[in-house]
Amino acid sequence: MKNILVVGSLNMDLVLQMEKIPSVGETVLGDGLRYSLGGKGANQAFAAGNLGGNVEMLGCVGEDSFGAKLVRNLASVGVDVGHIGRSASPGTGTAVICVEKSGDNSIVVVPGANKTCDEEYLRSNDAAFQKCDYILLQMEIPRDAVEYAVNRGKELSKTIILNPAPAPAALPQDILSKVDYIIPNETELSRLSGCRSDSENEMEAAARKLIAAGAHAVIVTLGHKGSVLVQKDTLERFPPIQVEAVDTTAAGDCFCAAFAVALADGKTPAQAISFANVAAGLAVTRPGAQDSIPTQAEVEERRVSERGRKEAVRAEG
Ligand code: RIB
Repeated sequence: MKNILVVGSLNMDLVLQMEKIPSVGETVLGDGLRYSLGGKGANQAFAAGNLGGNVEMLGCVGEDSFGAKLVRNLASVGVDVGHIGRSASPGTGTAVICVEKSGDNSIVVVPGANKTCDEEYLRSNDAAFQKCDYILLQMEIPRDAVEYAVNRGKELSKTIILNPAPAPAALPQDILSKVDYIIPNETELSRLSGCRSDSENEMEAAARKLIAAGAHAVIVTLGHKGSVLVQKDTLERFPPIQVEAVDTTAAGDCFCAAFAVALADGKTPAQAISFANVAAGLAVTRPGAQDSIPTQAEVEERRVSERGRKEAVRAEG
């Protein structure tokens, strides 16, 4: 198993449950409120550790109890947390997450200490870049830090996986061309490409626009519709597993981490996407961010039962 370096955010999530996410100007009564460990970077590092990866995380928390809990949770699944930065001020990043009955959510992140995960901090942790084989990135840390990590990773010939979340309006060609796999959801794809991505044709055209702008492989996560891999001359679809969605928070994070772990384990991109679809499918059946991430054994068990189900359907047909 090769080594994965996750560079990204760590947040304490304040999760509000409600029937329907309010529109602008509307007040609704909520059904519940709880704290949950999150942050796209930390969720991906936790998931990669829980799914059997060799993982180190670079990111920053505050010198407060939220930060301590986040770091402890990562260490509990074997993530190397030895170089996570701690800032006296600002405190650990936080996110307010509204989750509605359907399982869909909307999120506001207040970055806090994630802002100190900057180029200078990454430069001072160059050993982590040298040691790893895969670099997994999102966009909840300063933009120059993301670009530095992509450039440094490429200089060292590492495989770079970028989850462009939250999505910027565009990414420079120079950065896109250094990313081996870019993994947006439909909303992120639409924002990044400047094109609609509602229908399948629109989604493919938007992904192709990123490829024309330098991306090598675009993996679009489509929630209950599974995912697709778009490359220069091909498009492959990967069906989801059938589940009852409770909370979609961190499902994308789980997907990216599972994809990275499977690649690091020597799987092909297509095999890695199938594995990631199952892991992300299981994550939506549970509430929370890191709380919802399945173990490697749970994913393997579900893969076995999926194979059995498909064989039974084939035998019947
Ligand atoms: O992807 C889900 C995550 O986004 C949450 O855990 C929240 O912290 C935000 O970063």
